[in-house]
Amino acid sequence: MYDLIVEDATIVGGRQRRVADICVEDGRIVYVGERPAGPARARQSALGKFVIPGVIDGHVHFRSPGHPHKEDWASGSRAAASGGVTTVLDMPNTSPPTLSRADWNHKRSLAAAQSRVDFGLWVGASAGRNDDINELMDSGDACGIKAFMGASTGPLLVDDDTLVALFEQTRGLIGVHAEDDAVLVALRGRFDGQSAPDHNAVRPPAAAASAVQRLIELVSAYRRPVHICHVSTAAESDLLESSRGVLPITTEACPHHLFLASDVTPEFALPDGSGGTTASGNRIKVNPPIRTEADRRALWAAVRRDRIDTIGSDHAPHTLSEKAAPYWQAPAGVPGVETLLPLMLTAVRQGKLTIERVVQLCCEEPARIFGLKSKGSVSAGHDADLVIFGERELAPLLASDLLTRVGWSPFEGMRMVPKPDLVYVRGRLVAAAGKIVDDSVRGTLVRPGG
Ligand code: DOR
Ligand code: ZN
Ligand code: ZN
Repeated sequence: MYDLIVEDATIVGGRQRRVADICVEDGRIVYVGERPAGPARARQSALGKFVIPGVIDGHVHFRSPGHPHKEDWASGSRAAASGGVTTVLDMPNTSPPTLSRADWNHKRSLAAAQSRVDFGLWVGASAGRNDDINELMDSGDACGIKAFMGASTGPLLVDDDTLVALFEQTRGLIGVHAEDDAVLVALRGRFDGQSAPDHNAVRPPAAAASAVQRLIELVSAYRRPVHICHVSTAAESDLLESSRGVLPITTEACPHHLFLASDVTPEFALPDGSGGTTASGNRIKVNPPIRTEADRRALWAAVRRDRIDTIGSDHAPHTLSEKAAPYWQAPAGVPGVETLLPLMLTAVRQGKLTIERVVQLCCEEPARIFGLKSKGSVSAGHDADLVIFGERELAPLLASDLLTRVGWSPFEGMRMVPKPDLVYVRGRLVAAAGKIVDDSVRGTLVRPGG
């Protein structure tokens, strides 16, 4: 007996769409096709609706433990599920940072107890920790090694010697925050005495381009797979163009870089004037910065021309009161796990890309890059992570739509496709129309190759 049959679904994959029924047993898809024989405990009509694989967000900072006032695994994963994200990969710059087996195990037990979606955990690169990294990577536990080439939130930063040692001494996928710290530090004096400089001038495109150039050199020398997080500029995209298909470099773009620009969205400054006194405001202070409209358009061109492989949210839940601090003290980062899919489907509505391409960027490519074999496809043998949505009216995003504990979004007020109708995690209905309908589901660890 099947646990569930989703009937008459318009199933969208990266290359095709078909109408069929989806049969689920023990959390897995066991059959996709015409009228399955046999009874089912539950049936769900998807007539006239699209069904896509659950989104894999390869880049969240749920920031647990240490910052429960911001987010924890329960609140972050509820937000994820409500927006169609059924797997998250959490970054290591938490407090304490995830650098050792003990740190990793601790975070794993928190996530296993609280997460409503499946999860993977990155390990952080740090000088003298390569044995820990190899143990976590060889065991198949960590989903990748995260290296910060530029200082951002948290203590993680690698200098060039540490980065070279990482390439020489460790194994597996390296994910990189690519901003060159030397460029950032050299510029710092220029902004002395300025209380509210333009964040995109403090951390300019040249810093990102310099780091990407260095990564191309290192990958050429060591042939290690590298995933470049949050590509945000025309300069990076241009540099990467000639190595596409030649070097094992994959790329991520973030919705905030695709939908916001530093020179055209002053309305995103804090309304009460506290803090957000830069052209763009501390709310959208994020590393790498929100770029100009010219870079934003170039990034869309890169997405549309297959130069970007994945979309990750870089969900970084900082509170509005933290954001209200003066520019130099305000933390960088924006929440976004629950608006990732609604925004990408809004781009579909705007004619920028197809649902098939969204499935490639948000489901298939992350599954391939992170080696998640049971994820990313609505077909027999895969986990029954299903997102079902119909054509719905665009509506302004309201703070009350948000499940992240920080309770705000840089996209508030923006007209977008609403959250999906139904979201299943391993065959269990977790969220419907943006609300959690079953809070008892717990996700499990995903591992490369598993
Ligand atoms: O803006 C950012 N916030 N960039 C990062 O690299 C880290 C993140 C965070 O953890 O807050
Ligand atoms: Zn980053
Ligand atoms: Zn990040």
